[in-house]
Amino acid sequence: MLYACQDRYGDMFTLKIAYEGTWVMLADPEAVKQVFTGDPRVFHAGEGNQILAPILGRNSLLVLDEKPHMSQRRLLLPPFHGERMQAYGKTMAEIAAREIESWPAATPYKLRPRMQAITLDIILRTVFGIEEGEEMAELREALREFLDLTTNPALLLPALLLGPDRIRRLGPFRRRIDRVDRLIYREIAARRRAGDLEERDDILSLLVAARHEDGSPMSDEEMRDELLTLLVAGHETTATSLSWAVERLARHPNKLERLRTEVEAGEDAYLTATIQETLRLRPVISIVIRRLTEPVELGGYEIPAGASVTPCVYLVHRNPEIYPNPDAFEPERFLREPPGTYTWIPFGGGVRRCLGASFAQFEMAVVLRELVRRRQIRPADPKPERVFRRAITETPRHDATVILG
Ligand code: HEM
Repeated sequence: MLYACQDRYGDMFTLKIAYEGTWVMLADPEAVKQVFTGDPRVFHAGEGNQILAPILGRNSLLVLDEKPHMSQRRLLLPPFHGERMQAYGKTMAEIAAREIESWPAATPYKLRPRMQAITLDIILRTVFGIEEGEEMAELREALREFLDLTTNPALLLPALLLGPDRIRRLGPFRRRIDRVDRLIYREIAARRRAGDLEERDDILSLLVAARHEDGSPMSDEEMRDELLTLLVAGHETTATSLSWAVERLARHPNKLERLRTEVEAGEDAYLTATIQETLRLRPVISIVIRRLTEPVELGGYEIPAGASVTPCVYLVHRNPEIYPNPDAFEPERFLREPPGTYTWIPFGGGVRRCLGASFAQFEMAVVLRELVRRRQIRPADPKPERVFRRAITETPRHDATVILG
């Protein structure tokens, strides 16, 4: 549909979406740049995410705009700095290796749920800072149920129709949220009392030590909202991108072999390029949204306040002038030229750019490294898996079904 609209109307066209209003889709990197570098008072992202507010809370980075957004983002940015990720490498590799070794051989096996198990455990250990044991098992189960609220398409539609306030009062929603809240507040209280805060490098411990500009600490409610935000934003997205990487590699045995050889030689360049190419060709989020608080001139049109402008990740990534042979899976293209700020946008851009972009790419590299070192991979069906839209993310239709050796 996006291609058809682009053929007919060009790089800028309008869609009217029920319950969402007007979206002006943008496929031209110049227009995308204008949006990402635009004034955050005019280009609101949080407003478009209000559906998540009853679940993630009013302090969630995803639902805030302008000053409140920048002040939460300032607190959350330092723990996600690229160089800090090294501290999590060993834990991530251990979790991935244990899971990968347990997968059955010689039978069709769906990897997406298993990638979700890996990314959930990685978040529990590195973001929440929880050690293996009973507490981790209890929280893991409660979070799985909770995540269903944001990833199950059957629950998203009633949420859209009823609106955030009424949905929050519904029994099944309430129960799942209350259970998670109880466990998270218990964890936050324990961390505040912990004597070893300075030696800990998990993100919750860093948030306990973080200070607002006026010197005050984050409240329990702020911490709860941001922990759940990181979980919801970071768990399914990364698991799905990993599933796509395997889905694509399994159908390109030569590229898989090159990756294996380079990983075994301790080289990272092809691994990085493979991840970049997976995120280009199969972005898990195909558009990002900014709602306008004032009229804006873009591409020769005046777009009214109240409409949304939506940089279209999917179309920008498939522009043949930027990416020759755009439908082909070719990690090599990123060996020749690094990704551009406004032409490679799987993590969005500007002041709303994905906070976990370094975390996610580092995690994908760790997991793929463990996988290609340990297992042979071939597709269960040689046909490529189609793109299937779940609640928010675009996933492989058959959950990346492969046969492992
Ligand atoms: C491959 C995995 C991931 C993809 C494709 C992805 C993609 C995105 C996209 C497209 C946005 C919206 C950006 C915009 O509006 O310009 C976003 C925002 C965000 N992501 Fe990610 N993400 C991933 C992983 C993660 C991880 C691992 C975390 C944290 C642990 C995370 C945390 C966030 C947060 C907090 C925001 C909101 C930022 C803000 O509004 O200031 N993401 N992500």
